Amino acid sequence: MNILVVGSGGREHAICTAFRRSQKTEGLFCAPGNAGIGAVATCVNIAADDVNSLADFAAANNIGLTFVGGEVSLALGIVDEFERRGLRVIGPKAAGAQLESSKAFAKGFMARHGIPTAKFTVSHSADFAILELESGDFGGPDSSVVVKADGLAAGKGVVVASGRAAAVEAINGLAETVGSAAADKIVLEECLVGREVSLLVFSDGANFALMPPVRDHKRIGEGDTGPNTGGMGTVSDDAILSAAELTDIVERIVKPTLHACKREDINFRGILFFGLMLTANGPMVLEYNVRFGDPETQSILVRLETDFVDICEAMLSGDLSKLDIKWTKGSSACVILASEGYPGKARTGDIINGLQEAAQVANVAVFHAGTARDAAGNVVTSGGRVLGVTAVGVSLDAALASAYEAVSKISWTGMQFRKDIGK
Ligand code: AMP
Ligand code: GLY
Repeated sequence: MNILVVGSGGREHAICTAFRRSQKTEGLFCAPGNAGIGAVATCVNIAADDVNSLADFAAANNIGLTFVGGEVSLALGIVDEFERRGLRVIGPKAAGAQLESSKAFAKGFMARHGIPTAKFTVSHSADFAILELESGDFGGPDSSVVVKADGLAAGKGVVVASGRAAAVEAINGLAETVGSAAADKIVLEECLVGREVSLLVFSDGANFALMPPVRDHKRIGEGDTGPNTGGMGTVSDDAILSAAELTDIVERIVKPTLHACKREDINFRGILFFGLMLTANGPMVLEYNVRFGDPETQSILVRLETDFVDICEAMLSGDLSKLDIKWTKGSSACVILASEGYPGKARTGDIINGLQEAAQVANVAVFHAGTARDAAGNVVTSGGRVLGVTAVGVSLDAALASAYEAVSKISWTGMQFRKDIGK
């Protein structure tokens, strides 16, 4: 079967690699792809948000399955359009994608269905948001408050403000940071305290299958300091959640969410990502994503033993409950190598050294994100997050040791990474 993957990041490189491992994959295409993806798939020069051209390509090239990587295409209704044309595609329709594309929708959805989440308000302007703050619902002037833009903001739409003055500043600055469309509504949330963990599931609309839990490191600096990024590294290890915690999350959050989707006529087929906080009052949802995470996927898919095409087929046919999805025992880790300047304006165009040496380290896969080829054929940096150096191991320490050994082989001018992933 011919397969099309939509996207161009490390996540999509990991997804393409999982498809490549299947005997059932014939032609493998990725739109638009990147320099690393080009080694496992044919890159197609169509942007991920050009839904009509992607559907034209799928129809013209006998694509039997399209897998959508990112939220922007999903929010634009790529799945609605493919299905309208009779093309087989994995991902939720635009109605389901609202769980990620509108934080106000997601919070309302959780409130309607009793799914545990932080106390919140939704305001239609910065002025009203500031009035909400002053109403006292979020504690006194020194209490932390979380300020969120409603719309998609590529990770820049959330500020955890320590105190009312910082919250007012965040509210007033939101439209400038994320654009006035994404900040059209402002969500304020009580600040939860606890351990953060991500849990992803495959869903066929009626049944779901859990992936191993994963933890990410969002801040740029070691010791979780500095600004938030799209993610500087992830680890996956079954011990991230105890059996009791996992059961609690499944019963209080995963099942009620998928049940609520059915009640709201959202046939959620694809990947649902639960960003969770384990608080003293039990697990709570920080956010939903309607797709694989980046760089969570890199750590998750290297542990997948089951044929990825079989999982996709089961999501399409509604037979997920018949499939026993297997994961390698042990752990995995992904360390992100980023360009100078990231998460601000990133320096690009630098030649990346040591890719082959890194790939030879046992148990390692180097996934490309912001890479391209220059005129001479060298692999060069082309974005903020450049590589996701990912390893599996019998233990978390073993996985981290392999990942960091591979990292030590790679260099370019201005390369930065965190040395404390998994710590
Ligand atoms: P989100 O995109 O909504 O997941 O928010 C990004 C990050 O902000 C999360 O990973 C948390 O670290 C933090 N965050 C979001 N909401 C809250 C909350 N209600 N309380 C504490 N931290 C939060
Ligand atoms: N790493 C977080 C995300 O993909 O949203």
